[in-house]
Amino acid sequence: MLQIAIVGLGGIGNNHARCYRNNPHTKVAAVCDLIPERADKAAAEFECPAFYSVAEMLAAGLKLDAASVCTAGEENGGDHCKPTLELLEAAIPVLGEKPISNRIDEARRMVQTARQKNLPYAINLNHRFTPAAARARQWLDEGRLGPVNFINMFMWITNRNESSPHFHMRALHPHSIDVMRYFGGEVARVHAFFKKGEGRSIWSNVHVNMLFADGTLGHLMGSYDGGGPGSPWGLERLEVVGSKAKMVIEDACERLIFSPRFDLQQEAYDHPGNMKSFGDTFQSRIDAWIDDLRNGTPPDRVEGKGADALAAQLVIEAAIESWETGKVIDL
Ligand SMILES: NC(=O)c1ccc[n+]([C@@H]2O[C@H](COP(=O)([O-])OP(=O)(O)OC[C@H]3O[C@@H](n4cnc5c(N)ncnc54)[C@H](O)[C@@H]3O)[C@@H](O)[C@H]2O)c1
Repeated sequence: MLQIAIVGLGGIGNNHARCYRNNPHTKVAAVCDLIPERADKAAAEFECPAFYSVAEMLAAGLKLDAASVCTAGEENGGDHCKPTLELLEAAIPVLGEKPISNRIDEARRMVQTARQKNLPYAINLNHRFTPAAARARQWLDEGRLGPVNFINMFMWITNRNESSPHFHMRALHPHSIDVMRYFGGEVARVHAFFKKGEGRSIWSNVHVNMLFADGTLGHLMGSYDGGGPGSPWGLERLEVVGSKAKMVIEDACERLIFSPRFDLQQEAYDHPGNMKSFGDTFQSRIDAWIDDLRNGTPPDRVEGKGADALAAQLVIEAAIESWETGKVIDL
């Protein structure tokens, strides 16, 4: 049984803890939050010791096989670096939350530290951990789409937080860009237009053009003003278009459609793998992380690794730079 620590016990840290509890191979062995009431409450629920700092937790000498870091901070990523580095320095593998960081220098430091110590370091890029994405990836690898020409993505939710000009781009789009990279590989060039929604002081709507390294064209439409109640709006939609066929994933896991270019017969799957909705992606992502730990997957082959999250963050920073300068940015 792997012994897991959870650092940061807001809604998401508690969500991670429940996922580890649901997995037969892991046990929540420690919880840690700077806010004592949050740590104590989680300790009571998960029947483990509470700590109020990572240093205190490490000093207690518990056997810890891995940790989830579910802190937040500025642009939802400002607090991740310190606890992540403390854990990695203590040779504990880390699953962090997205964004890996809102600062590229910190993201690089975490990725480099894990690499130097040869430790698994991954991020909860949960939108790619769905049966729909796995099947779509298989179709792509089998050549059913032919060479890919376009990858189009939209992702939007209602989020009225006005905390910083680029909060929307940095906090939401690690997800969308990771899914695009999952199917398209490395991004080479970026160009973006941003718009402030009605009554907003932040850049809450974006259009981002991408040129992938293999020449595929990518487009992301993102918004914190776009989501509405229920299915008419949805959360996200991915379209991968090849010369022989296209495929669409709706709402991360809810519908997968394969459309041959010269045949009217489509293949459509509702809730592939019986995954009900986006909320289920936390369990599937954490189960995959636990499998990687148990199988001893080499750190550079861990699915959704820190380096993937860093690559997505570089695209985000390039989009911001493009909007601010009016230029196409090379990565
Ligand atoms: N993957 C997803 O789909 C998804 C969805 C929503 C949020 N998130 C991410 O989850 C993260 C957490 O979100 P939340 O809403 O639970 O945040 P939150 O602010 O409610 O909770 C974060 C907690 O971390 C604690 N903390 C901060 N620094 C700490 C440290 N050094 N040591 C110990 N505790 C520390 C804070 O006291 C706080 O209780 C964010 O990064 C957010 O972007 C991911």
